[in-house]
Amino acid sequence: MIADIVVGLQHGDEAKGKVTHHLCKDGDYTHVLRFNGGGNAGHTIFHNGQKFVTHYVPAGVFYGITSIIGSGCVINSRDFFNELQTLRKAGIDTSLVKIAENCHVITNDHQVEDRKDKIIGTTKKGNGPAYRSKYERSGIQAKNALEFKPFLIDLYEEFHNKKDVKILCEGAQGFELDIDWGDYPYVTSSHCVAASALLNGIPPQAVRNIWGVGKVYDTYVGQKQFEPDDDIFPMLREIGEEYGATTSRPRQCNWLNLDSLNRSLAINGATHLVLNKIDVLEQIDRWNVYHLGETLKFSSKEKMCDYIVDNTPFKNKRENVFFSGNKHNLNPN
Ligand code: IMP
Ligand code: MG
Repeated sequence: MIADIVVGLQHGDEAKGKVTHHLCKDGDYTHVLRFNGGGNAGHTIFHNGQKFVTHYVPAGVFYGITSIIGSGCVINSRDFFNELQTLRKAGIDTSLVKIAENCHVITNDHQVEDRKDKIIGTTKKGNGPAYRSKYERSGIQAKNALEFKPFLIDLYEEFHNKKDVKILCEGAQGFELDIDWGDYPYVTSSHCVAASALLNGIPPQAVRNIWGVGKVYDTYVGQKQFEPDDDIFPMLREIGEEYGATTSRPRQCNWLNLDSLNRSLAINGATHLVLNKIDVLEQIDRWNVYHLGETLKFSSKEKMCDYIVDNTPFKNKRENVFFSGNKHNLNPN
């Protein structure tokens, strides 16, 4: 068994969807697995020139690869079926979409409760209450929800009793929203780190590549104050189209924080680094980075990119770093 993992290095919205979609194309995977989160995630994917926003279904669905909503996820039936219908209407074959039988259900009551949140700024999709029920041992597993019956799989059978299994594990949200590693309580209710993928029936020895995905700047959606008071950030938001894929809320913007990025790379064990949306900084022509508590201002893209790579564990592994433009494919650094 081989497993590659795609994880978010910041506060979600790093364009992980784009990276998984790209890897699915040539990666020769037998399965794509979403390993955490629920309808709170919003993956924007451009497939054959068409824009899709998915919340549950992994990117493998666009390439006819078995696409699994894993045991680490929570799922609401109405939202899931709506998403399937949207995909089908657009001509995407959804017959390979599967749900782990031990994945947990987001009930309508969970969603009603989540809508009352005023402190965290949740996506109101019922995520937190569903995980609370799971850990409180009062939740409902997918195998006990009739509507999911045709989709159910046992991850043990699927991964361990088949030959030549090659899985792409697709994370949702990002390191800074991880329930333990993020800025608690301004976090989501699941684990967003690479280790979280393993909880879906994948043995640690199977892991090959860990793709850490970030943006060349930072964004956050939620209740806490994140964006510094500077006119450049509203401009960055407009040019970068930094509005939530799930809730349409404006994302607060800031420069890349290299100290946070290094912490995230280390704890995720990233073997590859992708930094997206460099074309957005190109348009505002600012090349700023926080490092060791200071704001560094570079005079060009090349100087900033070199500095970033030189100050991460990738200093001597430059071939594993990719700076990428917004809607384009990955371009090697
Ligand atoms: P929840 O996951 O809906 O409970 O929201 C908790 C926090 O995580 C809020 O600040 C959300 O805005 C944030 N969040 C959850 N999912 C995503 C995502 O996919 N992208 C960005 N932020 C997210
Ligand atoms: Mg998103």
